Amino acid sequence: MDRTGPEPAVLAIAASTAGDPAGGPRPAGSAANDAALVTRGDFGALSRPHLSPILGRYYERSWDHGEGHTLYDSAGRGFLDFACGIATTSLGHHHPAVTQAIKDQADKLLHICNALGYLEPVGQLATLLADACPDPLDTVFFGNSGTEAVEGALKLARRVTGRPGIVAFRGAFHGRTFGAASITSSSINYRLGYEPLLPSVYLTPFPNVYRYFGDDEEAATAGAMGALRTLLGHEIPASSVAAIIIEPIQGEGGFSPAPISFLRQLRALCDENGILLICDEIQSGIARTGKMWAFEHADIVPDVVCVAKALCNGMPIGAIVSSRELQERWGVGAHGTTFGGNPVSCAAGVAVMKTIAEQGLVANAATRGDELIAGLKGLMAADERIGDVRGRGLMVGVELVKDRASREPDTETSEALVLACAEQGLLVLNCGTHHNVIRFLPPIDVTAGEIGQGVELFGAALRTLPRTGASAGI
Ligand SMILES: Cc1ncc(COP(=O)(O)O)c(C=O)c1O
Repeated sequence: MDRTGPEPAVLAIAASTAGDPAGGPRPAGSAANDAALVTRGDFGALSRPHLSPILGRYYERSWDHGEGHTLYDSAGRGFLDFACGIATTSLGHHHPAVTQAIKDQADKLLHICNALGYLEPVGQLATLLADACPDPLDTVFFGNSGTEAVEGALKLARRVTGRPGIVAFRGAFHGRTFGAASITSSSINYRLGYEPLLPSVYLTPFPNVYRYFGDDEEAATAGAMGALRTLLGHEIPASSVAAIIIEPIQGEGGFSPAPISFLRQLRALCDENGILLICDEIQSGIARTGKMWAFEHADIVPDVVCVAKALCNGMPIGAIVSSRELQERWGVGAHGTTFGGNPVSCAAGVAVMKTIAEQGLVANAATRGDELIAGLKGLMAADERIGDVRGRGLMVGVELVKDRASREPDTETSEALVLACAEQGLLVLNCGTHHNVIRFLPPIDVTAGEIGQGVELFGAALRTLPRTGASAGI
């Protein structure tokens, strides 16, 4: 089953729906019935008959409100939210500065379409985003979502280079629209039945250090660079490649950081061949990894950065950042949008960027991330089902395996663990090509106490699950 990310575990905790006769079929179009359901807080029963089933859900739970780092269901139970709407509400819920900015802008003006002229919050957010990027990345195009940012970046690359080829990495997730889906391969379900996808797209192996290279970063770099050079030697010449797009830390594919050496060699290869390097920072960006951008860990500067998710703490946004020169060469009218860079979203984004700077949240993400990794490694020492704990800052994955030696993915435990964590009061999600990686995405203003609490709840949830496979003998 699919949701906005990879295959979900389906949570059948029915605290607010158990035994509810209204959960079954009901007379169609009964407004009175709908109202009664809402009163009882079962928005699933209200929603299921008419919302598309295409969007898979992690939880069969109805949500009501959020406060700080706690998300409340409609039965009034609070959950420590380390999912953050999939790396989006990075400042938590009902953040005073963000909420106030949204209210103020909503009172003033909702929409004009940026093609009509200039608006203060849009210009402010572009300035703050440019300031947060290394030189020469100083120019922003705003859209509505991550997939749109990727789509625009691909168009920019083809237009300005005059080349057709796009190279992406196996296991990547870049979005759902046709261009983005063409470079996505974290799950076959995202491609199945959609052929023909975008032509002149080539996929090459990602340097997944844990799964394919026995924890050896140098081997991973050499292997993945070798495969890329083979691709450029046999399938598409480098001179025909417009762009190489990479998530510096693969997100939906399993929270797998690309080795620093790999990112540096990739940058060099792009420079040697006039290829644009696009970094998809949609999940990893905006202070999440203990740097503003994950590519900064490698001390490289991409040509184009794709941003979305946490930029506006939940308000829809997407952004393409590059040098002015590149966007000038892209050309006036070569791309556009009606809603993109909506002023209410941008006002929220301004509040987000100012809060990050004022509260030193890049550093907080780094420090709390170290604590999170240390806590999870403590659990790993006591439980063989945890094969790996990895990540940067507050983008941390726990890979579950049936056997540490063979590293056989343990999808069943991972999916059950998402549900067991919720039962303990902790929201974390799973990801990965085998859905066997639990991802931790706490708010970037999380406290040390909350990190400790999250680790404790996670350990308690894991202990409720029966051991299977080789780990059962421990
Ligand atoms: C790395 C990455 N790129 C692109 C996207 C697509 O973003 P959106 O769902 O906003 O279209 C996602 C969403 O999970 C993502 O994680």
